[in-house]
Amino acid sequence: MANVTRNLAFADEFISATLVENVVDYDVGDAVVVNISPSPMITGHEHAAIVPAWKSTWLKGGRIRSAQRTALIKVVQPTNLGGCMFRGWDWLGNRVKSFPRDTPLFISPQDEIGTVSLDPEVFTNERIRPETSQSFILKLNLWWAPGDTDCFIHNEHPFLETHTQIHGAGRMQKFRQRNHKTLYEDVPMAIGYSHDPFCRVTGKNQWTYPWHRYYSDTDSVWLAIELHP
Ligand SMILES: [Fe+2]
Repeated sequence: MANVTRNLAFADEFISATLVENVVDYDVGDAVVVNISPSPMITGHEHAAIVPAWKSTWLKGGRIRSAQRTALIKVVQPTNLGGCMFRGWDWLGNRVKSFPRDTPLFISPQDEIGTVSLDPEVFTNERIRPETSQSFILKLNLWWAPGDTDCFIHNEHPFLETHTQIHGAGRMQKFRQRNHKTLYEDVPMAIGYSHDPFCRVTGKNQWTYPWHRYYSDTDSVWLAIELHP
């Protein structure tokens, strides 16, 4: 069946968020469209274009010609968007004891989408053609932080991750040590952009991350894409 559509767990009157699977000739009025699959997404009317696996774009009256699985996300009501903690979003400090007590970083409900089979080294761009295939559980959630928030330098995840900017502007940053003065890479995150994965595969279900953080330049909403083994 084509264009199987449902709301994502974090959809509400402030943020429209839709999952569309087996996408065929699907018109998008105005939304960030994220290719949450290991296959290319084809967009365009007269002039086709490819959005690679796990990348994204901002369509405004555009068309998805074909895709395995996409998330369409748009902030439709920016007024009081920052009241997300009163609508079921959780302060990260409630979940992580070591999280700084004064950092306003909030996580939406998480949506477990299903499974995806891929070669993790293709996901990390360490390999072009798949040599193995492994099943991962795909989970999505949103984050919100006000402008100029240090969203915590960390380097451990039991999953593969990447992020897409949905609203506002920020940066994904890499550090030599757990110290903001040791910054060595700054990846600007503008609406519709997904950064390349930061992790490298080191073994079966093993990978390393550099010290990294998200830094919000303005009030921001961004999407976390997690692949859990
Ligand atoms: Fe991270």
